[in-house]
This record gives sequence, structure tokens and C-alpha cells, in this order.
Amino acid sequence: VAADPTLPYRAALSAFATGVTVVVAEDETGPVGLTVNSLASVSLEPRLVLWCLGDECDRRALFGAADRFTINVLAAEDMALCERFAWGDARLEPHEVRLAPSGASGLKGALTILDCQAHTKIGLGDHMVIVGRVMDFETRPGDGLLFFRGGYGRAST
Ligand SMILES: Cc1cc2nc3c(=O)[nH]c(=O)nc-3n(C[C@H](O)[C@H](O)[C@H](O)COP(=O)(O)O)c2cc1C
Repeated sequence: VAADPTLPYRAALSAFATGVTVVVAEDETGPVGLTVNSLASVSLEPRLVLWCLGDECDRRALFGAADRFTINVLAAEDMALCERFAWGDARLEPHEVRLAPSGASGLKGALTILDCQAHTKIGLGDHMVIVGRVMDFETRPGDGLLFFRGGYGRAST
């Protein structure tokens, strides 16, 4: 098989260490997750964050149309959840759900849960930039999951 031509560029970007989140939105059957590391804070007042949704993603229709979603920052122990919500079964089991005050589904065990209303969506290149307004949030102490050069690490202070 031919080498992926995007590989050298992706390898260059992978030198930028990030945390890992799972974005959760609901379809008619319940909550669905997607592993995302493109999170950035945009504005404090109002509270706005953005993440980027790939056009190729099989869950694009759901996440691209969602009016509400939660962004769940993974703890260092939750590497398995990172991989599952990237490539495995993306449906949350009822015991994995932590309900936000709005009634939106978050991921139990997350370090931070941002409860968002979709604010702006912009198609740019092969991704959609999704800006969320943070309506509510929860956070707890604990070490974070790091993603760096295609592998995982632990962020602690
Ligand atoms: C650490 C990590 C970060 C990711 N970040 C993003 C992201 O920011 N945006 C995105 O659309 N997909 C991201 N993905 C990929 C998706 O989680 C998912 O694997 C991809 O959409 C392919 O899913 P599919 O094969 O079911 O379509 C990330 C995957 C991993 C492992």
C-alpha cells in the first residue's frame, strides 16, 4: 500500500502535546461520544470554546447538527475511553453517563465537563469548526490524559 501523504505533516503537528476530550451529543437512541483533541478556548466573556469535526467522521451528521453537546476532558486513567470513542463502540452505557444540570449527558469520571450550546459552525477545509457556548461546567482534581506524538502520557503538576 502507498504511504499516506499526510503522514509527515501529521507527525509534525503531533509534537504539540494536547489533552484529550470526548464530545458527547444525543441522537434519538441516546448519547454518542467522539474522541477530540482539537479543543481550544476562544473567549471568557462570553464563554466560548471551539473544536474541529472531520468531514470523514462517520458521526459527522450527528455532531455537525447537534444544538447541544458536552465536552468531557479525560483523566489520565481513561486511555481506553479515548480509543473506544475514536474507533470502537461510540454509544455511552447508562452507567457511564453523568447528567449535567441542564439534563445533557456528560461522561462520568471526566476531569471537566463543559455543557455547551452550539453557537457557530464554520466549514473550513476538510473540517467543520464548531464553536460552543459554555452554559455550565463541572471540574474535579486529578491527572490528565496527554496525547503526544501519537502516544499517551500523564499530565500532572
Ligand atoms: C487523540 C485523538 C484525537 C482526535 N481528535 C479529533 C478531532 O479533534 N476531531 C475529529 O473530527 N476527530 C478526531 N479524532 C478522530 C475521531 O475520534 C475518530 O477516530 C474519527 O472520526 C474516525 O472515526 P470513524 O472511523 O468512526 O469515522 C481523534 C482521535 C484521537 C485518537
